[in-house]
Amino acid sequence: MKTLALFGASGKTGRQFLDLALAAGYRVKALVRNPAKLPLQHANLEVIAGDVLSAADVARTVAGADVVVSLFGHVKGSPEWLQTDGTRHIVQAMREHGVRKIISLSGGGLPYEQDRPKLPDYLIRGIMKLAVPKVLNDAIRHAELLQASGLDWIIVRGPRLTDEPRRGQYRVGWVGVNASTKVGRADLAAFILQQVEDNAFVGKMPFVSY
Ligand SMILES: NC(=O)c1ccc[n+]([C@@H]2O[C@H](COP(=O)([O-])OP(=O)(O)OC[C@H]3O[C@@H](n4cnc5c(N)ncnc54)[C@H](OP(=O)(O)O)[C@@H]3O)[C@@H](O)[C@H]2O)c1
Repeated sequence: MKTLALFGASGKTGRQFLDLALAAGYRVKALVRNPAKLPLQHANLEVIAGDVLSAADVARTVAGADVVVSLFGHVKGSPEWLQTDGTRHIVQAMREHGVRKIISLSGGGLPYEQDRPKLPDYLIRGIMKLAVPKVLNDAIRHAELLQASGLDWIIVRGPRLTDEPRRGQYRVGWVGVNASTKVGRADLAAFILQQVEDNAFVGKMPFVSY
């Protein structure tokens, strides 16, 4: 069974993903800033205390992994280029350790060539540009970095995330195409886990919603 290097395991989507990954039999190396926020013991889970902004901590996490799953993101007080700088460390570590595949989480504000935004999508993107320009710019730059990396990347994008129970059904499209404006983190996590084995979306930015 594969080993996953997981970033953001203490977050809301990350925790859902971790539970699913362990239940599916994967080994997980999870980097968390505060291990007390991840009160979980499992034979296949290795918790690594560290920060995604530390190249050394990231390298320890990526070493020995088969696939990287990057679900960390801005929290209160995060630096402007958190996602870009963390992803840069991840890409560097992947090169050093010969890891080829990364699945990274972002939002529908991040544009992709297959998107056909409709009026509500333009409104949401406009609001994001005004309300959280830092997060949006960081998402765009992190995507540019992955696109230029030469790695097998998948950027999974979601709309507004909710904490509702898993439905087991969702749509996969692009912004404005086969899409709606929300998805539960449990279903999003299930889609992300599927991407570990599935290569159909390598080099693409699918948008997951109900
Ligand atoms: N919220 C939405 O509606 C929405 C919509 C579309 C897309 N997204 C995307 O989905 C992602 C996940 O959302 P979420 O609500 O599940 O996130 P969340 O609960 O806020 O979790 C963020 C995670 O990032 C970690 N993190 C932040 N800075 C870090 C650092 N320097 N080093 C290591 N870990 C760090 C946090 O760790 P700590 O526990 O240590 O803080 C936490 O585990 C977002 O970041 C965004 O890219 C969100």
